[in-house]
This record gives sequence, C-alpha cells and structure tokens, in this order.
Amino acid sequence: PKVTFIQPDGMQTVLEADTGTSVMRTAAANGVPGIVAECGGSAMCATCHVYVEDAYLDGLPEVSEVEDEMLDCTASARCANSRLSCQLNIESDIAVRIPEAQV
Ligand code: FES
Repeated sequence: PKVTFIQPDGMQTVLEADTGTSVMRTAAANGVPGIVAECGGSAMCATCHVYVEDAYLDGLPEVSEVEDEMLDCTASARCANSRLSCQLNIESDIAVRIPEAQV
C-alpha cells in the first residue's frame, strides 16, 4: 500500500509500505523526518503523533484505551483525526500529516 507523509510545510513523501507494518516504522525505515517515536512503538511516548487525512479515517483500527491516554499527552494539539502512528498498521493506502512539534 501507499503511505503519504505530509510535512508541516506541505512537502510530501509517498512510500510503498509492507502490509502490516506500522506507519511509524515505515517513516523510520525511510528517514521521514518528524516522527520521533521515543518509546520505539509501545504506545508510551506520544512522539509519533500524526493527523490522519480525512479521506483515510474510515476503516482504521479503533483507538485503544492506552492510545487514547497517550493522545492526551501530545506536544501538538490533539484533534479528532489524531493517532499514534506506531499503532496504525498499514492495511491499505493512507495519508498522514506530521505535527509541528513532537516533544
Ligand atoms: Fe511511542 Fe508511538 S512510538 S507512542
């Protein structure tokens, strides 16, 4: 599937990702800046926060209780489309916007 990362300045990176890999790992493996992922993907840091583009919100996995708690700790404002990218496993095309700040 295709994963699109949109930087705060509008710059876009489109990558071909493996199904089942997380959005966070895809960014890390390809050097996409702006996803810090301090805890390495355990839903314990909130520095992998992304905003999912509206067109891709349907069909995402539910926000777990742990993710919900961590989303209250993001450096940039939490919005209705906020997710932790380490908890988003890629099943089909997705586009995410990277927040201004992660820490
Ligand atoms: Fe830490 Fe996602 S990498 S919460």
